[in-house]
Amino acid sequence: MAADKKWLFTLFFAAFTSFLLFLSMISSFLSSSQKPFSTLRRGVNYPPAFAYYITGTKGDVGRIYRLLLAVYHPRNRYLLHIGTGGSDEERRKLVDLVENVGVIRDFRNVDVVGKPDPNTHMGSSGVAAVLRAVSILLKVDKGWDWFVCLSALDYPLITQDDLSHVFSSVRRDLNFIDHTSDLGWKEGQRVLPIVVDPGIYLARRVQIFHATQKRTLPDAFKVFTGSPWVTLSRSFLEFCVLGWDNLPRTLLMFSTNLILAQEVYFHSVICNSPEFRNTTVNGDLRYMVWDDPPKMDPLFLNTSGYEQMIQSGAAFARQFRENEAVLDMIDEKILKRGRHRAVPGAWCTGRKSWFTDPCSQWGDVNVLKPGRHAEKFKESMNSLLLDWKSQSNQCR
Ligand SMILES: *[C@@H]1O[C@H](CO)[C@@H](O)[C@H](O)[C@H]1NC(C)=O
Ligand SMILES: *[C@@H]1O[C@H](CO)[C@@H](O)[C@H](O)[C@H]1NC(C)=O
Repeated sequence: MAADKKWLFTLFFAAFTSFLLFLSMISSFLSSSQKPFSTLRRGVNYPPAFAYYITGTKGDVGRIYRLLLAVYHPRNRYLLHIGTGGSDEERRKLVDLVENVGVIRDFRNVDVVGKPDPNTHMGSSGVAAVLRAVSILLKVDKGWDWFVCLSALDYPLITQDDLSHVFSSVRRDLNFIDHTSDLGWKEGQRVLPIVVDPGIYLARRVQIFHATQKRTLPDAFKVFTGSPWVTLSRSFLEFCVLGWDNLPRTLLMFSTNLILAQEVYFHSVICNSPEFRNTTVNGDLRYMVWDDPPKMDPLFLNTSGYEQMIQSGAAFARQFRENEAVLDMIDEKILKRGRHRAVPGAWCTGRKSWFTDPCSQWGDVNVLKPGRHAEKFKESMNSLLLDWKSQSNQCR
């Protein structure tokens, strides 16, 4: 009798397994035969598109891949970068992961930087890396509206449908950049010291070194500083990269010997340019928690700060440890994203179940379906725009 039951169980188990195999074959057949259903439409009559630069270093493959899926949308463009600290092996691994995502294979909107840039801690090579990323993104894609700079330690707090929906009512020449000319302690500790970033001319990764002399405060332009986490318009970045005015180049050369140049470069360029200073919105759309007194980097976020974080109305938060439990909470409660799957949006038309990915099939990619978390972000956007209109907090 017991033997009979065992046999039955085996039969049932075998039947169930082949049924599952059959299902997965069908679903992979469906996803591989899928072709882009609708053409991508960009421009003022369509939702805005974003160009993301996601940068990390050695050991960040898993984080970059997870973040990519969490901010993925077929309308956007992505450039992934593992700095010189990482290996080519890691870069290849990242390419393999990316190429395994059906929708990315079809829309071809993700690239991985093959020849990496250094990103010296505190040095100016990071600015060069960001400008290079901007140049690549401008060249490979003529249709995006805003450039967003993310690190492997960041994570979104809203879906791409939410983000694009809220940005649909924003003038596309506006720049989101947290800035001030009130340098405070930064004047003596950041702007006046002269440093050299060996990342610019040494192949080996080393730290910056300080010159014995200090400079005086510039008087040919005013120095602005702020968060390095920027969301910049295409038109402003063309101004920075193409450089028909010499200001972006002058400030780039000034930044070479600056500590944490990424907190000064774009801020000073935009606020010293008469044609762009009126387009600055003073905010970085990020949620960060700082120690008191603040350290170099914000605190690592965890589940105990979850409520406060999602109530913040920010689009992104930083910083997180790899596979931190709060990221799973964000995936589950906000992004509704399954493991190793892209964040679902209105473009996903596949059935949603534990064995099928709703985004393995897609329909019209030019429509959005914002969720309830778009509301909080919309509120904070409105208050930033109100602030922008008053001009009281702009390039001052
Ligand atoms: C920027 O705003 C100022 C103050 O309102 C105004 O005088 C100036 O003409 C504006 N510049 C541009 C380029 O719109
Ligand atoms: C979460 O982060 C806060 C602030 O850094 C810290 O005080 C707290 O101990 C952390 N909680 C856990 C569970 O790690």
